[in-house]
Amino acid sequence: MNRERPSSDTLPDQRARENADSPRRLVLRRPDDFHVHLRDGLMLNALVNATARQFGRAIVMPNLDPPVTTAAGAEAYRSRILAALGEQDDFKPLMTVYLTDNTKTPDLEAGFKAGVLTAAKFYPAHATTNSALGVTDLRNLYGVFNAMERLKMPLLVHGEVSDPDVDVFDREKAFIDRYLAKLVNAFPALKIVLEHITTEEAVDFVVAAGPNVGATITPHHLSINRNSMFHGGLRPHFYCLPILKREHHRLALRRAATSGNPKFFLGTDSAPHDISTKQNGCACAGIFNADVAMQVYAQVFEEEASLDRLETFAAEHGARFYGLPLNQGRIALEKTGSIVSAEFPAGKSRIVPFKAGSAISWSFVGKVADEHHS
Ligand code: DOR
Ligand code: ZN
Repeated sequence: MNRERPSSDTLPDQRARENADSPRRLVLRRPDDFHVHLRDGLMLNALVNATARQFGRAIVMPNLDPPVTTAAGAEAYRSRILAALGEQDDFKPLMTVYLTDNTKTPDLEAGFKAGVLTAAKFYPAHATTNSALGVTDLRNLYGVFNAMERLKMPLLVHGEVSDPDVDVFDREKAFIDRYLAKLVNAFPALKIVLEHITTEEAVDFVVAAGPNVGATITPHHLSINRNSMFHGGLRPHFYCLPILKREHHRLALRRAATSGNPKFFLGTDSAPHDISTKQNGCACAGIFNADVAMQVYAQVFEEEASLDRLETFAAEHGARFYGLPLNQGRIALEKTGSIVSAEFPAGKSRIVPFKAGSAISWSFVGKVADEHHS
């Protein structure tokens, strides 16, 4: 593979579409990230501060090793996150618990009522990173789902089957057909977030479902399609789960994100791995995008001539779905191009960010006083 070759993370059509009428500066309500991996230990400090720079709150994934499976575990993890937050103490981590076949309803209920837990995460066993302890059969959790429906506690779903007989590119659709449709019917009032959707079928499913079903959309699934993984060689930094799909799926995600439909909201799925576990014979799944998230979303919304809808997607739809107050602060972005750094250091780890070495058209300015909205 030719390592000198620039990475193909910008599609030609995107490069061609620049909206001449776009503002040079955007001031938005401070957004939230409704799906992020902050990891733990030495990496945590750099990661939480990268997320806190852009976002007021974040739904923190529980797939640590070992996973966070109890309210007490989530409370301890929250304390470690708060301790790692430097000056940025106006950031609020929203904690989740990882469902297993043995999740105890009273623990979940007590954690939710105490405000420790915001949501619970369902990973099908073996679907992705650190999911070995995930749920082997959804029916094992029907008692838990009953309680969550009553409590209005959101269920966050990694929507892929782990059946090795199903083609990796079809696993999201298979999950919807085999399990999600049934789950939604069995618990018609359960709040469900189909996380990091990647297909037109997922968009259609969410649109057709009731207002209790929403979805997060990542910057990378909006920006690139599966060709990027194979451009000039095998590119592990574009490998994530659910895997990137065909172009028509990317276009469906762009339409959903920019449609103004409140069911669709921001969730970066920023999922860092050390360079040694990415550039490896068996590369880990996950794309780290926390430091370029809002810049990339802004670029996508601009390309779709929908910059006026970025704020609701990034700072309102998710909060409303979760029943949270809107953030009061403001952030600014500016239309000054920059090159994304080649590496992001986090503790002893080196992480290759999304769009590393590539030009992006927006820069993140930071928190600003309440200026007149662009
Ligand atoms: O690409 C992914 N990485 N997908 C996931 O579901 C998990 C995540 C991770 O934790 O690295
Ligand atoms: Zn994730």
